[in-house]
Amino acid sequence: MKVLIVGNGGREHALAWKIKASPRVRHVYVAPGNAGTAVDAINVPIPASDHAGLIKFAKENEIDFVVVGPEAPLVAGLVDDLQAAGIRAFGPSKAAAELEGSKVFCKNLLRQADVPTADYQTFRDAGDAIRYIKDRYAEPDASCPVVVKADGLAAGKGVIVCSNRREALEAIERIAGSREFGAAGDRLIIEERLSGPEVSILAITDGSTILTLPSAQDHKPAFDGDQGPNTGGMGAYCPTPIVDAEMVAKIEASILVPVVHAMKRSRRPFRGVLYAGLMITAAGPKVLEFNVRFGDPECQPLLMRLKGDLVDIIEAVIDGRLDQLDPPEWDPRPAVCVVMASEGYPGEYETGRVITGLDRAAELENVKVFHAGTAEQDEDVVTAGGRVLGVTAIGQTISAAKLQAYRAVREIRWPGAWCRKDISDKALE
Ligand code: AMP
Ligand code: GLY
Repeated sequence: MKVLIVGNGGREHALAWKIKASPRVRHVYVAPGNAGTAVDAINVPIPASDHAGLIKFAKENEIDFVVVGPEAPLVAGLVDDLQAAGIRAFGPSKAAAELEGSKVFCKNLLRQADVPTADYQTFRDAGDAIRYIKDRYAEPDASCPVVVKADGLAAGKGVIVCSNRREALEAIERIAGSREFGAAGDRLIIEERLSGPEVSILAITDGSTILTLPSAQDHKPAFDGDQGPNTGGMGAYCPTPIVDAEMVAKIEASILVPVVHAMKRSRRPFRGVLYAGLMITAAGPKVLEFNVRFGDPECQPLLMRLKGDLVDIIEAVIDGRLDQLDPPEWDPRPAVCVVMASEGYPGEYETGRVITGLDRAAELENVKVFHAGTAEQDEDVVTAGGRVLGVTAIGQTISAAKLQAYRAVREIRWPGAWCRKDISDKALE
């Protein structure tokens, strides 16, 4: 078989590595890929936005199926375009990807389906949103536990968690006034601020049958102890001890099943990876957001633990026969992924720094270094993004996996490289 993966991040490197491991697969191509996918697969210099170019490549090379990794091409309808050209593709349609592409669509669907989520109001107009806050929180320095969200895609940055009225008004101004996130701010949501630990529950579905994957936990804030600005994710581990079998059953019954049914009823059957970002509140698990793809970096520890053949799962979803597939086996050992980032990330950063020590890290047992923002330059691997590597290890315990991941991190160097030092510590709290 020949498989094409679209994207260039750590998630896509993990997908390429796992799909390449299938005995049924001969060639894996990644468009456009990074320096890591250049080693584990074959890079093709076509950007994810070039639908015609991807279709042409898939046809000319007799690709058996395409896996679309990131949200932007899914929301832009790449899967629809591939399918219209007769190419099999894994991922939701443009209509189904609205679940991530529009937070207003997502919240309305959750409300309709009676799925637990924070109370919310939607606004088209900054003035209305400002009046809403001022009416409810009369005192200028009143505590104001709300979250202000831009409706559209904003690379994880369009969500502003507020404590007081000033912060809430500022957030509205950034999204709907100065339009920091562009068209993503055409509409905004103000919602109740929840509290509790966060978990990512990913499920693979063909629109009818749901295969829930082991729970994972991301680390979104940049610095240790969850301090600092939000990032795309500074590390993840899997599984999470706070989600036991009873909690999984509850999440399936109260969240995943009703959402899959509601999508089907709204004639947007969801096929692909349904990612529920949840907060485990005192009143039970509630939805913060839905994503329509594998999480990055959650995908890296998840796939490191998957023992079954990912290709069998993907094909069962494409063909709508997930109900006939035996559930895959998982390595009982936990996995931890530590993201190494460029100096300055999630703000501005420089690229082109030469990375050393990748060979030494790769020699360590039970370690896989997934590349994210890397590129090949002459004989070197250089930095090419904010999140550069996802150093992932598996171990007998979470502590052992963590220790091994950081052992590998210590082998890898470039000027300005940094990472959080506490990835997975929340599991031990
Ligand atoms: P999202 O992109 O919607 O997952 O939001 C990014 C981060 O903002 C989440 O990981 C949470 O830490 C935080 N967040 C989002 N919604 C809420 C909420 N209703 N209450 C508290 N924190 C939230
Ligand atoms: N790790 C969070 C995300 O993929 O959106």
